[in-house]
Amino acid sequence: ATATIGVTGLAVMGRNLARNFARHGYTVAVHNRSFAKTQSLVADHGDDGTFVPSESMADFVASLATPRKIVIMVKAGGPTDAVISELIPLLEAGDIVIDAGNAHFPDTIRREGELKAHGLHFVGSGVSGGEEGALNGPSIMPGGSPESYRVLGPILEDISAKVDGVPCCTYIGPDGAGHFVKMVHNGIEYADMQLIAEAYDLLRLGLGASAAEIGEIFAQWNTGDLESFLIEISADVLAHTDPATGQAFVDVVLDQAEQKGTGRWTVQNALDLGVPITGIAEATFARALSGSVPQRAAAVGVLPAHVSAWDIPDRAAFIEDVRLALYASKVVAYSQGFDQIAAASAEFGWDVDRGAMARIWRGGCIIRARFLNRITEAYERDAHLPLLLADEYFTGAVGNGVASWRRVVAAAALSGVPTPAFSSSLAYYDGVRAERLPAALIQAQRDFFGAHTYRRVDRAGTFHTEWTGDRTETTL
Ligand code: 6PG
Repeated sequence: ATATIGVTGLAVMGRNLARNFARHGYTVAVHNRSFAKTQSLVADHGDDGTFVPSESMADFVASLATPRKIVIMVKAGGPTDAVISELIPLLEAGDIVIDAGNAHFPDTIRREGELKAHGLHFVGSGVSGGEEGALNGPSIMPGGSPESYRVLGPILEDISAKVDGVPCCTYIGPDGAGHFVKMVHNGIEYADMQLIAEAYDLLRLGLGASAAEIGEIFAQWNTGDLESFLIEISADVLAHTDPATGQAFVDVVLDQAEQKGTGRWTVQNALDLGVPITGIAEATFARALSGSVPQRAAAVGVLPAHVSAWDIPDRAAFIEDVRLALYASKVVAYSQGFDQIAAASAEFGWDVDRGAMARIWRGGCIIRARFLNRITEAYERDAHLPLLLADEYFTGAVGNGVASWRRVVAAAALSGVPTPAFSSSLAYYDGVRAERLPAALIQAQRDFFGAHTYRRVDRAGTFHTEWTGDRTETTL
């Protein structure tokens, strides 16, 4: 038994993670359902370091030094359970099983409980950064027991991305905490992508700019506050010409966005927790709308538009308005995502440090951005910040753009350009800062038709009005 860490499941993510471990000097046990993939990894990338290939799961387990540390990188759901069942009889108390896939966190909570009953540690770990991140340094979000992190943490921190020398990996919390924050990371990723897509659409339709011109605008934005991986790759995508047709690449891609489910899970969970993550929800629904083929076919050319002609006298000013609206909407999406993490942390007793989340998302992951430094600083100022938007830096940064944001959302509405994420984020902003909301009328309506009771602004207690009688108020 010589290997320090093992990886089973050698599709591209598993393969690259195994190579990353090897490049950092760890002896890596490798295993895959079909041995050919294991052999090709060793044949193609043996130079990366020391691999110990095994054909059977039993040999793979036997090749690992104890306590064994085994990373599972297979499809979420049934395939993960199948590998775990195969592993359990081969392992010994104290061994650590790491699920590095995009598991749904309730599954992780269940699996952690099951493995604990066998004396095993189960670490549900988010890993973000795609193929390239897995190889060169991902952002890693491990949940599970603190004991397992003491053994595993240094290795994961070693292979993670670094920003200013700080690893993009930290202990997140017990059982499902790691996969939960990875899920919210992906929800934020959806919001970020949708916001960039809306900015693109506004520039394209408002200015009549070409895809390539917008690519240049994004490349310019990427030198300022919006600097991020997603803006950078969007600029690259927009600059690309389809070799087959000579058209802008973006124009030959079918406009129906797909998803594998992490965004949907984020929204489902937010509904359960009662946390308004409107930016993420609108981004997820925007993908669903794009894929609503029969509905779109029934609506195109049929639904009246009554749009005003879009007159933009000052192009530079409009571009700046869109940039500021994008930034403000992005702050809203993150603020909402961090609220969701706080709510889940309280619900499940995870004690997640939101400042640490922002810190490990600065590099390696898909949502990596300069802006995450500002979030990290906000939570350094106040670890229990009730609302990220209300941090002094963000009140300044968003305040600076709020007039632009209103102009962009209003112009989009008048011109018939759909901006679900921009506009719902602005509605959230105005909702959360309102001194008084029409929720008072909702409470009164509920009491009227269902005797659901209400509370008063001037007295403590629960009240009901006899709406069908003489409308006297009763105290309950
Ligand atoms: C990451 C990504 C990764 C995956 C996306 C794609 O953090 O590395 O989020 O997990 O590529 O989740 O998600 P959809 O297919 O749902 O868009």
